[in-house]
Amino acid sequence: MSAFTDDLPPRPDTGRQVTSARSAVVDAAAIALLVALCGVLALVAPLHEIDVGAVAGGVVLYAIAWQVSFTVRGSTSTALQLIFVPMWFAVPPALLPLVAVAGQLAAWLLQSRISRRPLRGFEGLASAADAWHAVGPALVLTVVGPSAPSMALLPLLVVAAAAQLAAYTLAGQLRALASKRELDQLPARVIGGNAAVDLTLAPLGLVLATVAQQSYWATAGVLPLLALVAKFSGERERRIVHAHELASAYRGTASLMCDVLEADDAYTGGEHTEGVVEMALGVGRELELDASRMQLLELGALLHDIGKLRVPNEIINKPGKLTAEEWEIVKEHPAHGEAMLLRVGGVLAEVAPIVRGHHERFDGAGYPDCLAGSAIPLEARVITVCDSFSAMTTNRSYRQAMSHAEAIAELHRCTPAQFDPRVVDALVTSLEDAPEEGLRIATPVHPAYGTAGSVAGTAPPSRRARLRQLPERRRNRNVAAA
Ligand SMILES: [Fe+2]
Ligand SMILES: [Fe+2]
Repeated sequence: MSAFTDDLPPRPDTGRQVTSARSAVVDAAAIALLVALCGVLALVAPLHEIDVGAVAGGVVLYAIAWQVSFTVRGSTSTALQLIFVPMWFAVPPALLPLVAVAGQLAAWLLQSRISRRPLRGFEGLASAADAWHAVGPALVLTVVGPSAPSMALLPLLVVAAAAQLAAYTLAGQLRALASKRELDQLPARVIGGNAAVDLTLAPLGLVLATVAQQSYWATAGVLPLLALVAKFSGERERRIVHAHELASAYRGTASLMCDVLEADDAYTGGEHTEGVVEMALGVGRELELDASRMQLLELGALLHDIGKLRVPNEIINKPGKLTAEEWEIVKEHPAHGEAMLLRVGGVLAEVAPIVRGHHERFDGAGYPDCLAGSAIPLEARVITVCDSFSAMTTNRSYRQAMSHAEAIAELHRCTPAQFDPRVVDALVTSLEDAPEEGLRIATPVHPAYGTAGSVAGTAPPSRRARLRQLPERRRNRNVAAA
């Protein structure tokens, strides 16, 4: 069974707000309609005999199974299907939605007690209205008629589970519409994830149904498994939270390092870096990189020039042309950056080769390792292109920034010698909707900072003013010491 909503408070991936009186009225109406529908179903398939033990067991086990939730593909699912499928065979179809209403209410009560939340009537109503999911299998089973559970019924199981998901989704959206709430955004991947979980659990539910033919309470044998799933799920959730905290700490560390770099070097550490990050993420999306590579790309773009902290300030901020010897010192910054990140370790150690490779050329004529083609990390190739685009579209003292069109033409002229054609194409596509002004990022103070750009300029006054505020000892720091 899927859980798209926050009808039971602690469920994570919800969006619905059920606080308005209108929502409560709509939910009450949905429950009344459900009861009426059960009456109609009872006329079609009369309730000859009701197993009171199955009904009671269904409600209790339903409430317990509801508490076992796990996140799959960004959406929360519950283990309810393990308990609910045996109910399809133990309870008459016309009674199934009513048992689900009682189960939802019991689950809400139990959840409120576990989380020590005050009971709120509107939440109970919303929870009970979610029992509409039971209408799907109830309709299918009414049409098919009574049958004993067996593995031959697997196709029926799939149809009933699909009907369950459809009923739940449709009823939820109609309730949102009637309540004048925003419709739930249910991307295909979320619905697919929930359907996958329900369908995965359904066959085991069918096995339990065969076991529970004598007494529905035999289904309770699955409770230790649920407890185990709950434990694993809890540990996984904690690990996810921890990973988020760690990623946030890495990002914070990277930002801090950038602030330090910005204090030394207004162009590199400031808006230029932010612009490169923004463009690189756009390119990463075009290239359909997965989440972990996007994280490496973001950190790599943020820290690509961090090694300049080890380049002497007199070179970094030299107003005139650099000597050949000074150039050689500047060209050491990718290796310095790599060494600094390796010292930090963790995810930043994974970013180190990206930072080392951001001045390599696609034809192997770059530095520091003269790598060519796919030997250069893809993330580094992305940063190289974005870094160059940023440099070209930046105002210089001797010329205005190039337009996007001119910079793109220059990128194409230097491809494939300097740049990876696939990356250039991805940048061009990602820039199509970008406002030109938004990507004119910063004013460079030195030619060494750009890859394709080549001439000195001046930093914006505000950044220069910040630079002047630095203690003298920091401004005179020498790389050789690092
Ligand atoms: Fe660089
Ligand atoms: Fe840069």
